[in-house]
This record gives sequence, structure tokens and C-alpha cells, in this order.
Amino acid sequence: MKLNLTTVVALVSMAFCSSAFASSAEDIIAKEKCNKCHTEKTTKKGPSWASVAVKYKGNADAPNKIFVQLKNGGKVGDEDDHKKVEASDADIKAIAAIVLSTK
Ligand code: HEC
Repeated sequence: MKLNLTTVVALVSMAFCSSAFASSAEDIIAKEKCNKCHTEKTTKKGPSWASVAVKYKGNADAPNKIFVQLKNGGKVGDEDDHKKVEASDADIKAIAAIVLSTK
């Protein structure tokens, strides 16, 4: 088989995609601009990831709660409805894990 340019481009972009996939949860956090309202340590419009992690410390149901909230959007407290995250279940779980492991 002779490698033509299209094949090479396809292979290169496949390699690129698989490496992007590894950090897709972080990419989604960046793309969805979560950091407009959340940072790791500082409370902005929303609570810092670290304070969310503290709030749910020892709560075995926390990953599930955060998953449901990010998946469906809607109210958490008395604030406006929370942003809904358009991502796969696996990615949303990974985002919840990142939030809950922030110190
Ligand atoms: C427009 C501002 C805004 C954006 C953008 C935003 N959030 Fe929030 N988020 C908030 C506010 C405000 C709260 C607190 C709500 C409350 O306690 O009533 C919150 C709460 C949370 C919580 C804690 C929920 C809990 O149960 O305590 C998590 C986790 C969270 N956001 C994740 C995210 C992620 C991930 C993104 C990006 C996909 C995101 N947020 C984008 C404003 C925002």
C-alpha cells in the first residue's frame, strides 16, 4: 500500500485525537468556561472546586450528586439554574472526580 497524503493526515489526526481524549474532562472545563464562575481555590460567582470538595468530604454519594447536577443543570441552591454540561456521561463523571479531588 502506498501512503498518500490523506492517509498520513488521517493517522496524524487520529493520534492527536486520542491524546486529546485523555484530558477531555479538563478540555471541557476550559471549553465550557466553568472558570468564569469557578476556580480551584477562589470563590467567584460559584464556589471554588476546593470548597465543593470540602463540602462533600466523606459523602459517598457526592460524585453521583455532582454528576446529576452537571448532566441536568437546574437549581443547586437559591441561585439561578446551573449550567448544563453537554458531554458524555464518562466525561461528566471525570469532571466530578476532578472537582472532588481538588485540594
Ligand atoms: C454562570 C456562572 C457559572 C458557570 C459558568 C458554572 N457554574 Fe458551577 N456553580 C455556579 C454557582 C453560582 C454555584 C453554586 C450554586 C448554589 O450553591 O446554589 C455552582 C455550583 C457548582 C458545583 C457545586 C454543586 C454542589 O452540589 O455544591 C459544581 C460541582 C459546579 N458548579 C460545577 C461547574 C462546572 C463543571 C461548570 C462548567 C461546565 C460550571 N460549574 C459552570 C455558577 C456557575
